Amino acid sequence: MGTGAYLPERVLTNKELEQIIATSDEWIMERTGIRERRIAAPEEDIATMGAAASLQALENAGIEADRLSYIILSTNSSPYLYPAAAIRVQDALGVNGKMAAFDLQAGCCGFNYALYVAERMVAPEGKYALVIGSDTNSRWSDWTDRSTCILFGDGAGAAVIGPSEQGRLKESFIASSLNMKLYCETEFNREVSPFLPHQTQTQRHYIYMDGPEIFKFAVTAVKESLRRIMEIANISREDLDYLIIHQANWRILDAGARFAKVPIEKVIVNVDRYGNTSAASVPIALHEALMEGKIKKGDKVLLISFGAGATWGAALVEW
Ligand code: UT7
Repeated sequence: MGTGAYLPERVLTNKELEQIIATSDEWIMERTGIRERRIAAPEEDIATMGAAASLQALENAGIEADRLSYIILSTNSSPYLYPAAAIRVQDALGVNGKMAAFDLQAGCCGFNYALYVAERMVAPEGKYALVIGSDTNSRWSDWTDRSTCILFGDGAGAAVIGPSEQGRLKESFIASSLNMKLYCETEFNREVSPFLPHQTQTQRHYIYMDGPEIFKFAVTAVKESLRRIMEIANISREDLDYLIIHQANWRILDAGARFAKVPIEKVIVNVDRYGNTSAASVPIALHEALMEGKIKKGDKVLLISFGAGATWGAALVEW
């Protein structure tokens, strides 16, 4: 019904990264297509960014926050194990106690997961839900590891879903399978627990990724998602008007376009400006494509994402 996005002001360019680690603008552009990304300010986090994107989505949907029945926030970079960031968004929207708000974690596929869950909760009863993807992976990046820190950017995207004349979620699916080639450990108090072996060295709590392995998984996940959604929705490649693929790497978007036999102009691309914003990447790209007037009434838009877990999934939306 309405979308919104929030990107922090601070731009980190490849040129600036050259001052931090042994890399080059040329290498990053050639291997990823990323030119710059955004970094959240110290006072910002997934909840403040999520709330900003949500206010825009509610305004574009033309409904007040108190009409929502659910707020679902997908993230991988919460500063708190609890409370859920969705409840902090609920508080920021001034609707404490008026609905249920909860977080959902599914790697960079989080927005597809949240959409899938929300649709099943609101569709039978004509209710409204706010679905958010918000991540600050810059805070979990190892800024000494040039193979991962160049990839991620911070941001948030949101969408209001509910009974609407405007569009329809036609088909969707989500899937997962354990893959430890991409993970991030959280910190807990090993030092003070009498039930865990004493740890003398400080553990590293950074994003670990085997890039080439995850690249192969990502391309396969995009192809598999396309194949499966076309099968369950009974549509052909020619029926697709726009592909919104998780903005992890331009080469992955390109491979998806080739497999779908969709001209690259029909693939929404903003990885060059924002890098990989994780669970926020699909809703940010959707919002921008709508604001730029690319997606029009009746267009069939396919949202595909994949990520840590491993997780993958797709949703076909008729706008
Ligand atoms: O959202 C979650 C999903 N994540 C993804 O989809 C990420 C998927 N993976 C990728 O996008 C790519 O694998 C990367 C962009 C991470 C890496 O690209 P690659 O073409 O797979 O490079 P590589 O890891 O095979 O590394 C090739 C070379 C290595 O040097 P040697 O061993 O050949 O001498 C790396 O050390 O490039 C080197 N390298 C760099 N050089 C300059 C790695 N990172 C950098 C860098 N700058 N930032």
